Amino acid sequence: MKERDQLNIDRIAFLGRTYAEYMDMIGLDESLLRNGRILDCPAGASSFAAEAHQMGLDVTACDILYNLTVDELLEKGKEDIGHVFEKFDEAEHLYVWKYYKNKDEVMALRNKALEIFADDFSKGLKEKRYIHTELPHLPFPDKTFSLVLSSHLLFLYGDRLDFDFHIACLKELVRVASKAVGIFPLTGLDAKPYPHLNEISSSLDSDGIKVEIVKVPFEFQRGANEMMKLSRK
Ligand SMILES: C[S@@+](CC[C@H](N)C(=O)[O-])C[C@H]1O[C@@H](n2cnc3c(N)ncnc32)[C@H](O)[C@@H]1O
Repeated sequence: MKERDQLNIDRIAFLGRTYAEYMDMIGLDESLLRNGRILDCPAGASSFAAEAHQMGLDVTACDILYNLTVDELLEKGKEDIGHVFEKFDEAEHLYVWKYYKNKDEVMALRNKALEIFADDFSKGLKEKRYIHTELPHLPFPDKTFSLVLSSHLLFLYGDRLDFDFHIACLKELVRVASKAVGIFPLTGLDAKPYPHLNEISSSLDSDGIKVEIVKVPFEFQRGANEMMKLSRK
């Protein structure tokens, strides 16, 4: 098998992580979640919103694919998990087995998240906990959420999403947040740091946004153990 210098997937995958993985990726203290509304965008097939709702937290999940039916989302989720893990073997050297034991454990967590998400989706859609949105626009007034989380879209897919899209999304995420925005990872599919992180930081800084890079207790892509925290200055 030929080793690749990046996870060679042909799409932005519709899959998701569980609540516990989110907490570690973003380095969150549970008490922070009890202080107002939370936005997860893009939420994909993550079970963060469903699990948090069960705990009595106020989470809204947004994704470009939430105009599909739950059956279509389940089918797409299964197909995309299959695609990602088929490509995974040729890129395994870009990952470390610290947080997860092995590929079977990661796949089981992706399937678990998809199932919990799908079980909650129809009810949550009616309750407006799941909302169809297309970044870089969010259909919410300024400061609607105390905390905004955005994982595994920005920076990760920097090979197909351009710089201006990144800036527009980051500003929009900050616009709807009153306290902070957390973004993870800061690396691309090649496990290298997003190449324009300095320009992004300067551009946000000149727009009155404070940028902090914070270590987190999560690492799967080799070296990807930092999140970006954004807040208003
Ligand atoms: C890999 S998933 C990330 C899910 C979750 N945040 C996580 O970390 O597990 C990426 C998601 O981005 C969504 N997406 C892609 N482009 C988008 C856009 N312009 N606006 C909103 N969502 C988008 C995809 O549909 C997909 O569900």
